[in-house]
Amino acid sequence: MENLSRKIREKARDIGAIVLAHNYQRPEVQDVADFVGDSLELSVKAMETDAKTIVFAGVDFMVEQAAVLNPSKTVLTPEPSSICPMAWQLDPPVVEEYRRRNPDAPLVVYVNSFVEVKSMADYVVTSSSASRLVSKLDAGKILFGPDRNLASYVAETTGKEVIAVPLNSYCPVHIGITPDKILSVKERMPDAKVLVHPECPPETRRLADFVGSTSQIIRAVGEIDAKRFIIGTENGVIHRISKLYSGKEAYPVSKDTICPNMKKITLEKVYRSLVSGETLVKIDEKLAEKARRVLERSFTLLGVETPWSRK
Ligand code: 13P
Ligand code: SF4
Repeated sequence: MENLSRKIREKARDIGAIVLAHNYQRPEVQDVADFVGDSLELSVKAMETDAKTIVFAGVDFMVEQAAVLNPSKTVLTPEPSSICPMAWQLDPPVVEEYRRRNPDAPLVVYVNSFVEVKSMADYVVTSSSASRLVSKLDAGKILFGPDRNLASYVAETTGKEVIAVPLNSYCPVHIGITPDKILSVKERMPDAKVLVHPECPPETRRLADFVGSTSQIIRAVGEIDAKRFIIGTENGVIHRISKLYSGKEAYPVSKDTICPNMKKITLEKVYRSLVSGETLVKIDEKLAEKARRVLERSFTLLGVETPWSRK
């Protein structure tokens, strides 16, 4: 494994590539990457880098977004079948229907969606920016999708009426983080703090000491004055927590809290991508242009620096 990691580093350097990895990636893939982060951090990193080639170890919508934001760079996915089932739960005709029925409500879409849906939206957010952006909007009623759980979290934290689009979309991994599982781990370690992702069901979030994106959870472990933490998101984040904070202990809610699509990417596939230049992510340029404008508007409202805002 060490040998392969070294070959990846050498090859990336030789061809001027950067390897980006999401916090849910396998430990060895996180370790070989130039940068590991949550969805927003990875988008920003993809925009900031001078590297001509980006190998993106993440699921389909993340890789697609990196390509949308970087039309002049080569964006490669090491495993095109690494999909996010939640992103597939929001189709353009459904968006049109909700738009038609709620003409005055702005449409805010979760980054876990595809370029065509993003191109139809008013704003795009991630789990770390959703409440912050929605609280800045004048409107009292918002359309939000996909993910009924993040939609309800945004409603709770902003006090606005948030309509989930569609009503029943959810992440198959986070829906399994149920209150009984949290309570059973908590029974064994009552002193432990509970940190969960907003994609968890509302009843689970109510048991939490902290709710945030994957990177916000990782940072919170460093900031909260406690030794033990129960981690209510995909177990990949525990690797980073263990590397960052040697004096702290992070426990999964269940050993099965795994996003199988994220785990499809291996060191072998990252290396193959660098060597073969596959698989190249191609986006319809008209749609990409429209989606870029929506992303640009969203980043501006959030105060995120982009190559456009620096112009
Ligand atoms: P983050 O933006 O918090 O990393 O979330 C991505 C994701 O897919 C959560 O399931
Ligand atoms: Fe999609 Fe859920 Fe996997 Fe995140 S954990 S990538 S939302 S399926």
